[in-house]
Amino acid sequence: MKKTIALSLAAVLAAAIIPTSSAQDAGKVDFEKQILPILKESCFKCHEKEHEENGKVKKPKGKLRLDSAATIMKGGSEYPDENVVAGKPDASWLVKTMTLPDSDDLAMPPEGKGDRVSAANIDLIKKWISEGASFDAWKGVE
Ligand code: HEC
Repeated sequence: MKKTIALSLAAVLAAAIIPTSSAQDAGKVDFEKQILPILKESCFKCHEKEHEENGKVKKPKGKLRLDSAATIMKGGSEYPDENVVAGKPDASWLVKTMTLPDSDDLAMPPEGKGDRVSAANIDLIKKWISEGASFDAWKGVE
């Protein structure tokens, strides 16, 4: 008898908990909370606004800045307007470069210049692009 009560209690708890967590999974990706930290960690050191570091001027590589919403959409010198194509992760160079093999010149971060982005984080970025690549209120560095 006791066992049955414990089991049905477990079932009730599971029913109460599971829908909540899957509802969260189905939520939209939040750029500032979930994507920005990935770009900061793996990409910012070469793709920030021109600035001085140890007395040297550092320009964004490939003329690509990933530190503002406007410049993420604008893209770099080779693929303007194709850095992030809203709704189309497979056409977006931001993500394509992350999935290229190390040997490719456009693999990002370049070979030997930092760890590759994890598969889970690449999926998250793809999801964000599929959902329309919204930055919400985030504008980044002017
Ligand atoms: C150590 C420096 C470095 C890091 C870190 C780095 N990149 Fe790059 N990136 C470059 C260089 C250099 C180029 C120019 C390559 C070329 O023109 O052959 C480039 C070019 C690009 C381009 C092509 C832009 C265009 O339109 O020409 C994209 C997209 C890109 N990077 C994305 C990223 C992403 C995303 C990350 C982080 C996962 C990243 N990069 C990290 C150095 C870096």
